[in-house]
Amino acid sequence: MQSEYQHLIDLNDFPVSWWTKLVDLGVKIKENPQDYAHECDGKIMATLFYEPSTRTQMSFQTAMLRLGGRIIGFDNPANSSVAKGETIKDTTKIVSSYADILVMRHPVAGAAKAASISADCPVINAGDGGHLHPTQTLTDLLTLKIEKKTLCGLTIGLCGDLINGRTVHSLCKALSMFEDNKFIFISTPELRMPAYIKDIITANGSTFEEVDALDEVIGSLDVLYMTRIQQERFASREEYLAQKNTYVLDREKMLLAKKDMIVLHPLPRVDEITVEVDEDSRAMYFTQAKYGVFARMALILTILGENGGSETLKGKVYSGVRCDNPKCITNHEEYLPKSFRFSGDETLLECEYCDERKLI
Ligand code: CP
Repeated sequence: MQSEYQHLIDLNDFPVSWWTKLVDLGVKIKENPQDYAHECDGKIMATLFYEPSTRTQMSFQTAMLRLGGRIIGFDNPANSSVAKGETIKDTTKIVSSYADILVMRHPVAGAAKAASISADCPVINAGDGGHLHPTQTLTDLLTLKIEKKTLCGLTIGLCGDLINGRTVHSLCKALSMFEDNKFIFISTPELRMPAYIKDIITANGSTFEEVDALDEVIGSLDVLYMTRIQQERFASREEYLAQKNTYVLDREKMLLAKKDMIVLHPLPRVDEITVEVDEDSRAMYFTQAKYGVFARMALILTILGENGGSETLKGKVYSGVRCDNPKCITNHEEYLPKSFRFSGDETLLECEYCDERKLI
């Protein structure tokens, strides 16, 4: 299914050269933001946030305002006609006729993909449930480029809620495309990285290992990416409480780390990094959030400057076959074509919205 517009749903829909060009533009904008102050004069960006956000929503809004554009949108669907039962299709159809670019965050996997099918302007995925968060990844790549001067040859530890963490899913998919990166997944057995992300890393030629203890590996890391245990993604409070406080980065653990290791975190933080670590020069998470504005300015300019559209659905609908993931948008919005593609394995179908696999 071809769209007239270039959407950003998953960074891996684009070649690495597209991301690196965008990151380089982000660096240029950071150096001379005033040079871009009128690039989006007369343009309108709509931010549709069906789920809470501080950084993503406000950095997108700041980015558009700093480019000279204007913003509309909602940050609480209860105050919009979503509360009356309006579908993503209808909301998107309407808002995309008001705006030049639409940014969507939603609690359900595949929601931005669903929006892109009916949108009359480019759609940007600002986080879809526990699935992907590509613009956080652009922020992370920009931060690594500025603070580590490279996107290659890094040992990256990712710690915490790796099963539900859309930021780490997008980041691993992206960084595994660059040479000689090695991943160390630090989590409890219950919160391990999903199999499909590990398969992508391997297919891209990168390596990973899985460990339980942060202090055993922190000394080998160039980058430590901490994540929050996401209470909102657990089926019950008991399951969340069993995982809470498993990993806490504190001053003692930082003593074991390399002098040039950097600590990243997409934020918000709850209790997985103690406040004393904020004073450590290697703590880069507040700087990372600041760089998010430059990454999103570069993204808005790039997407609005593109000619030609994206293919929104590339797979096929198989009669009677639907996704088994209850957190997939196709199980929330019935009208959507239930489109699947084959994974590398001929017996496995992958849902095009949430990447969940299904044996056939
Ligand atoms: N990093 C991130 O997505 O933060 P928000 O949830 O505050 O947008």
